Amino acid sequence: MNWTNNARQVTTCRVCGEQDWQPVVSFGDLPLAGSFLEPAQSYENEPRYPLGVVCCRSCRLMSLTHVVDPAILYRTYPYSKSDSEMMKKHMQHVVEVCQERFAVQPGSFVLEIGSNTGSQLKAFQKASMRTLGIDPAVNIVEVARQRGVETLPDFFSVETAATVAAEYGTPRLILGRHVFAHIDDVTSVLEGVRRLLGPESVFAIEVPYVVDMLEHNEFDTIYHEHLSYFGVGTLVTLFERHGLRVIDAERLPVHGGSILLFAGLRDGAWPTSPVVDELIEQERKFGLDDDATYERFAESIERIRGELVALVRGLRGEGKRIVGYGAPAKGNTLLNACGLGIDEIEFCSDTTEFKQGKVLPGTHIPVCSPQYAATREFDYYLLLAWNYGEEILGKEKAFLGKGGRFILPHPTPSIVPCEP
Ligand code: TYD
Ligand code: ZN
Repeated sequence: MNWTNNARQVTTCRVCGEQDWQPVVSFGDLPLAGSFLEPAQSYENEPRYPLGVVCCRSCRLMSLTHVVDPAILYRTYPYSKSDSEMMKKHMQHVVEVCQERFAVQPGSFVLEIGSNTGSQLKAFQKASMRTLGIDPAVNIVEVARQRGVETLPDFFSVETAATVAAEYGTPRLILGRHVFAHIDDVTSVLEGVRRLLGPESVFAIEVPYVVDMLEHNEFDTIYHEHLSYFGVGTLVTLFERHGLRVIDAERLPVHGGSILLFAGLRDGAWPTSPVVDELIEQERKFGLDDDATYERFAESIERIRGELVALVRGLRGEGKRIVGYGAPAKGNTLLNACGLGIDEIEFCSDTTEFKQGKVLPGTHIPVCSPQYAATREFDYYLLLAWNYGEEILGKEKAFLGKGGRFILPHPTPSIVPCEP
């Protein structure tokens, strides 16, 4: 791979091989969303990489314009220790769907790619399944192992697939939750998956759903880790090229709207659900095949940037104090793309110990614990972790009770509860 300054420009579509790109949006050079910094006097030479998206006119993959070397992005990785209630429920749902729809039985071998700290595999273990994780971040693999989830510290590829086949056998289920959109060399991963699957095996992936991102203007889902923004139609094209058949798909509310998609070998045992064609038809009606849809998305981003900055600066002008809720990766795109920083947002409150005491990339806003936030006086939370919005609003009753409000960035910047 030819890296210039640890990044390379995307030329050929990773799904269909064409080079007919529609430019959509560019945010300029931004720091990596996961590269939190130690507090310092100055932050010279903070690495920045181009962040922008284009759309393939042939297969309608939305892709980043530039790929950062994964060795830089993933060798260590911030992780959340405690999973939210919503995510716990969701992970249980994934187990149940695999059991009920694809008859994955106790004793079955479940392999997870990008298994993180092993929470999803723990849920499979509770259902008496044999599990193995693969994750490239060495710090995370250590945590997973301590929790009793066997995990290989590696990227998944044809080579790792061969090791798994030789040492562990054929998985009944291969799972990749919020990892597939991070993969540049999808060919190597899908080749590895195809070789590992048996006729009854299922490959399940969960990715942010491009329709939700476009419909709700969730432009901060765009950051250097998310290389691809998929619809079902594009995934069907991709999987077919690698000898796989999409057999089912389900829309889910997690992470602002995701799709859980199931595939098997082309001639495998599972029939194709009519849901697959129904979703593709809905995507066509939504306009995923039309340049105008992406032009409207770019216009909405411009509008939201302007409106959010005006709202926040207006409140600051009235002397109101604003704090960020959460320090998620997506928050860094939002803040950096809008040019909001320490003058507007005093600090961000986040439950992740790894992030506390550090500063956000680019904006250098300090990250503090919720316990610290509870001791401070302020008027508004800017909801950066909006994917947990319902759960957060439900548990911040004390803040709301004393008149505190939340600023929601999209689909259009707004304040909840509404101003009287
Ligand atoms: P996450 O959903 O993992 O988003 P991303 O992939 O964009 O990083 O991040 C959510 C962040 O919000 C995570 O750092 C934990 C934090 N958080 C809180 O601080 N309080 C909460 O109540 C919840 C639900 C999350
Ligand atoms: Zn393409």
